[in-house]
Amino acid sequence: MFASGTGTNFKAILLSRKRNKIKSDINLLISNNSDCGAVKIAKESGIDFKIINRNFYPGLSDKNFDDLFLKELRKSKIDFIVLAGYMKLLNKEVLRKYKNRIINIHPALLPSFGGKGMYGANVHRAVIASGAKVSGITIHFADEKYDEGKIIFQKCCDVDFEDDENSLSQKIRKLEHKFYPEIIRKFEEKKVLILKNKVKVI
Ligand code: GRF
Repeated sequence: MFASGTGTNFKAILLSRKRNKIKSDINLLISNNSDCGAVKIAKESGIDFKIINRNFYPGLSDKNFDDLFLKELRKSKIDFIVLAGYMKLLNKEVLRKYKNRIINIHPALLPSFGGKGMYGANVHRAVIASGAKVSGITIHFADEKYDEGKIIFQKCCDVDFEDDENSLSQKIRKLEHKFYPEIIRKFEEKKVLILKNKVKVI
């Protein structure tokens, strides 16, 4: 798992593993932020974690920086990557080596309300300001652009007239915590297929 923030999705996925709702072992958390909630959860749960931040390696070439990730992923025998609020773009080598094996979750219905700067409360604020009557979650493959990989799964919720960014964020989090583990399970069961450049979930 890769995460930079509070880590509620990370926690929900760990809980699903504990309850045997998903079968994969969660062997490693990679974060760019040693102070974040996700790292705290990893520490409490005994999950290995690694902080990799470009600022710590000013002299390193891009290639060698990429290798740091690959080394850690290899060491922990990672075959699938789940992004949950990871605030950096993944580097090319990781994307290439894990093609179609990296998924991300976005707190709105892509392709609307995505892209650079569209994270956290910014997304919910933009949704509310647009007057949209529905929002939701999007689980998608990660690629070299923010929020542009193939869409795997979406689920809507109503945006009520009274909603503000906090109440909308609560609705969205609920959906994320329920459906992200369910989609991971679909991958485990090989029920996520890419056909004609689109994704079919059986
Ligand atoms: C989630 O809303 C997710 O959609 C987005 O980042 C947020 C992470 O939240 N990519 P948390 O750290 O899991 O609580």
